[in-house]
Amino acid sequence: MAASPFALLQDYPRIQVVGSFDELFMTPMRDGINAICWERTLAGDFGEIVEKLGAGKGITSIDEARLRELDLSDAGQVAREVLLQDQELLRQRELQPSLDCVNGYENEIEAELLRTDVQSWHVDSATVAADTYLCTYFGPASEGVCNEEARRRVDVPEFRAELLKLYGGEDDAGFCDYLNENFLDLHYAPLPDARSFSFGLGHLWRIAIAYPDSPVPPCIHRAPATLPGNPPRLLLIS
Ligand SMILES: [Fe+2]
Repeated sequence: MAASPFALLQDYPRIQVVGSFDELFMTPMRDGINAICWERTLAGDFGEIVEKLGAGKGITSIDEARLRELDLSDAGQVAREVLLQDQELLRQRELQPSLDCVNGYENEIEAELLRTDVQSWHVDSATVAADTYLCTYFGPASEGVCNEEARRRVDVPEFRAELLKLYGGEDDAGFCDYLNENFLDLHYAPLPDARSFSFGLGHLWRIAIAYPDSPVPPCIHRAPATLPGNPPRLLLIS
């Protein structure tokens, strides 16, 4: 299932494109919309940033001091300004952005049934109203899948039966707590012909997450699979 560019997704009413950060921040999640995209074509060389960071395996958090000390070409400096400005925009709104260089994920190899890593289709969750902001500047972009074309894994009868076996009890409130405590109820299985889409590069997204009384369904997303030869990702998340 290859992810198509989100702009090519036909008849999918859950994505709204906006033209500024203020709109991105202010647009309410309603009428079924659960992903808002500030579409941008960014100038600057983000690949140079990734190269000069020379991050090791796994996830490296990049702070402002580290960014500022990089010795960059003009195009690299333009990219650095974008990275700093985006974080500043989010901080001004009381958010806590994190800039990460992701050079492969160190996931434990788990059966599909039990996967709860970020490369498995999932929704983010919180106990209070909140959203996730994210932008991929470089490398393979994050991906989404249409809500109507995926099911929570725990709602797929075969999976639920398997999980119940592992739990070793009844399908009752205790089982639901077990699923919840282990994040198993946040992960999704796409239907066979589900349409997935790429969040693309440079666009800043605000996506709906699961929280009590959320007016819209949460946006189902994942980090892209790690493929040999792919460069590290440069990712902003809040
Ligand atoms: Fe996530």
